[in-house]
Amino acid sequence: MLQACSITDYPETRQMKLNGNTILITGGASGIGLALTRLLHRNGNKIIVCGRDEGRLAGLKKQLPDVVTYPCDLADEPSLDRFADAVLANHPDLNMLINNAGVQHNFQFTEGRSHGPLIREELDTNLFAPIRLTDRLLPLLLRRNSAAIVNITSALAFAPKKSAAVYCATKSAMRSFTQALRYQLDGSSVAVFEIVPSLVDTRMTHGRGKGKITPDFLAGEAVDAIAMDKHDILIEKTKLLYLLYRFFPSTARRLLKNT
Ligand SMILES: NC(=O)c1ccc[n+]([C@@H]2O[C@H](COP(=O)([O-])OP(=O)(O)OC[C@H]3O[C@@H](n4cnc5c(N)ncnc54)[C@H](OP(=O)(O)O)[C@@H]3O)[C@@H](O)[C@H]2O)c1
Repeated sequence: MLQACSITDYPETRQMKLNGNTILITGGASGIGLALTRLLHRNGNKIIVCGRDEGRLAGLKKQLPDVVTYPCDLADEPSLDRFADAVLANHPDLNMLINNAGVQHNFQFTEGRSHGPLIREELDTNLFAPIRLTDRLLPLLLRRNSAAIVNITSALAFAPKKSAAVYCATKSAMRSFTQALRYQLDGSSVAVFEIVPSLVDTRMTHGRGKGKITPDFLAGEAVDAIAMDKHDILIEKTKLLYLLYRFFPSTARRLLKNT
């Protein structure tokens, strides 16, 4: 029954081979990104990773010396543009972009203080950066015979929670962007995937939530789905949640409101 849970009518035609690719994973040195880095590296792909924490990038390089790492603050437009320039110059073989990096801030707008820097960081990292990186790298991806853009959204994109209003808004916007981009790229060599994780045990969810899945489990499910050319990849509990949302939206919203 859960198998029938396809979100779009997008024709699934272009099978992506999951080895021998050159893959950029933003935030690929920790959490979900790191699990994707390890798995895709093990499968015989060349991996490029960016992140702000140079210690973490150095740690990754120690474990997997042939992974290419770039320090970059994606929330800073000049830093993002320098990074995109370096990718275009040094990696003309890039054929997959995984927009994974993200931040989540929990705060109430009713607290009676201003939240400017937190709002700006979430919008820039979760929304502007993946869209701008797509914009910069798409001309290169379109020159490849088989390419993909993979965006990581969230179940909170369709049923938001109270404590992270800006985060939920960015994920909802990314979900919409992903769908519209898919329309634009229909018939091209670039497939567009969306991964909708359930709660994953990472730094982002540290100290909250129950029944979390591991980043490795998520990476395995996501990579298998990409290999099978499934474009809307609902992970674990999000399958059920999406069905609930379709048929009983107020129940789904009630369930996630206070998570
Ligand atoms: N964990 C969950 O339950 C869950 C559920 C649904 C969706 N997601 C999504 O999954 C993605 C990965 O999250 P995670 O759970 O793995 O969190 P995480 O462990 O906190 O990892 C976030 C990654 O993003 C990078 N990052 C953050 N801000 C950045 C910036 N300005 N520039 C460059 N890199 C930046 C971080 O690297 P640096 O700190 O080194 O910059 C880190 O590698 C996010 O998009 C998140 O929204 C997570």
